[in-house]
Amino acid sequence: MAKDELEKDPQTIRRLFDDISPTYDVLNHTLSMSIDVGWRKRTLKKLGVRDDETILDIASGTGDMALLANSLHGCRVIGVDLSGNMLKVATEKCSKKGDFYTAIEGDALHMPFDDGSFEKAMVAFGIRNMPDMAVFLKEANRVLRPGGKLAILEFSVPEYPVIRQLYLAYLTKILPFVGGLQSGNRGAYQYLSDSINRFPSPTSMEALYREQGFVVETSVPLTMGISHLYVLRRPS
Ligand SMILES: C[S@@+](CC[C@H](N)C(=O)[O-])C[C@H]1O[C@@H](n2cnc3c(N)ncnc32)[C@H](O)[C@@H]1O
Repeated sequence: MAKDELEKDPQTIRRLFDDISPTYDVLNHTLSMSIDVGWRKRTLKKLGVRDDETILDIASGTGDMALLANSLHGCRVIGVDLSGNMLKVATEKCSKKGDFYTAIEGDALHMPFDDGSFEKAMVAFGIRNMPDMAVFLKEANRVLRPGGKLAILEFSVPEYPVIRQLYLAYLTKILPFVGGLQSGNRGAYQYLSDSINRFPSPTSMEALYREQGFVVETSVPLTMGISHLYVLRRPS
């Protein structure tokens, strides 16, 4: 399947995440061996989250970024996601820790916020699902204030040959198999695997961010390049 043949229309993506929402957290932490927790903390630190602000969590899913942002930095969080079922899990988890999370069901390509509503936004493991990343970046730019920041955390494929081969074996064989077995939805995990495998390189992503008017403040590979953190700034 070619890169642009991956089915990314909103209905399909919503259904996919609605279906896997009950098993998403357990599988996510098992398959990533919880390495993602360190990546998430680093993302929040680089974004420079403060306790007096409300930050936007785009593609909020089951709310792991929101929970961590509140527990580490005390901020309030607005989470946007296509999948009502993922947001239901997020709301249940967050409400156990207090009243800091607002869930909004919606498309990241058309967010229900005025221009310049947020100082800080983040998207963790969500941008690769967007049907048109340029449109998404325009929209993220719009809802940020001038000088505001967007952190993007996303999987990537390592460049170092031996690590790359091992990682690709994991991604294309183990992930769809184990994910499929546990969730009963092999197609969903095949999609997750394909979408990671086909995601553009950091160099291409940086070029796209600049084309969309962002300044790339941080671009750093994490854990031998299996993930990548970008922090972008909307110029003042
Ligand atoms: C892999 S999950 C990541 C969830 C969460 N951010 C995390 O770190 O675990 C991707 C999420 O992106 C959401 N998503 C995909 N496309 C979207 C879009 N166009 N607008 C809003 N949410 C979207 C999915 O519904 C799903 O909850």
